[in-house]
Amino acid sequence: MKNWNNAVFLVILLNGKNVHLTVKSVFPYDSVELSPNGREVIILDQSQLPNQERFLHLTTAEQIFYAITRLKVRGAPAIGIAAAFGLAMCVNRFRTRSLQALEKEFLRVKHYLYISRPTAVNLMWALDRMERCFYTAKQSLDDAEEKHAIEVVRNALTAEARAIKEEDVAMCEAISELGFSLLRPGCGILTHCNAGHLAVSRFGTALGPIYLAQQQGYSPRVYCDETRPLLQGARLTAYELTKACIDTTLICDNMAATLMSQGKIDLVFVGCDRVAANGDVANKIGTSSVAIVAKYYKVPIYVFAPTSTIDLDCRSGAEIIIEERPAFEVTDMYYSKRMAPKDVRVYNPAFDVTPASLIAGIVTEKGILKPRDIKNLRKTK
Ligand code: MRU
Repeated sequence: MKNWNNAVFLVILLNGKNVHLTVKSVFPYDSVELSPNGREVIILDQSQLPNQERFLHLTTAEQIFYAITRLKVRGAPAIGIAAAFGLAMCVNRFRTRSLQALEKEFLRVKHYLYISRPTAVNLMWALDRMERCFYTAKQSLDDAEEKHAIEVVRNALTAEARAIKEEDVAMCEAISELGFSLLRPGCGILTHCNAGHLAVSRFGTALGPIYLAQQQGYSPRVYCDETRPLLQGARLTAYELTKACIDTTLICDNMAATLMSQGKIDLVFVGCDRVAANGDVANKIGTSSVAIVAKYYKVPIYVFAPTSTIDLDCRSGAEIIIEERPAFEVTDMYYSKRMAPKDVRVYNPAFDVTPASLIAGIVTEKGILKPRDIKNLRKTK
């Protein structure tokens, strides 16, 4: 596979011939970037979409933490990339001549960002990878480099953070190609939350194959769950897909069964935040309800997960920490007036666990796996 100008070159066997397919990103920008000098993290503020395309230039650990917790940057891979960029940016900006002081600051920022959101494992995966990079660089310093130790470590961390993003782009390319093989011309796909360009480095996971299908003239029909309470489906997925001129219909979360009973949905494609070793999957709240309904109507549900989302240390979905978010998001946000009585108790889990038994396949960059085969994957970097 060759990468050129945001394009994915794919070779697939079509009518017995090798055919090159090209997917172009619908966006001229990525949702998370590190500035060329490594001193700013630039994000597209997803909390303002679809009404405003506003970019934020983040220069402190606190700003990165806030951007992650307030979902200005969101989606499992994008959170991991933002945290890695944030850590590199903080190290690049920290003024010191002492490697020990730099190490202390590195660990402070790492531990601080580590707890910004609990469910998406990409966050911890990326930060742990940055820590391994820090100590590898420190240990490998020879006598000559000792004098420039700080620069060597800074350069290594900046390169590692950029590599995390570039590898994610490559994973999304491979996942898009594999997912495309599941689609047929004119098929109807239901998706929940947002697992597109905005949630990753580029292209998307669950939405990647849909972009490719559109480009290949398959004219996919996509139904987006609005995804209460934070409306990632309505605000982000519908925004991405309509921008790409894809046939998109927005539905409320409780309408999926009706559409399935009418035969309008051939497949369900969703992203995920953590895959446990037994194939259970945590994703945006409401995914398990969709999976249960899909099972009833015999509609296959595919979960899209780069290997950075797979947590082999987590034995089953029961071990995944589910983030609980403020009541305000349910009662007030996106309403012009508070819509529930003042004293009512609210429960707002941000994710749920879909049991492995309901999932037709997990699409990783290494192949489309049965959930039971996840445990056989080797740990990634
Ligand atoms: O709370 P969010 O918006 O970060 O939740 C995101 C999801 O649940 C996505 O489906 C998931 O991260 C997929 S990322 C390709």
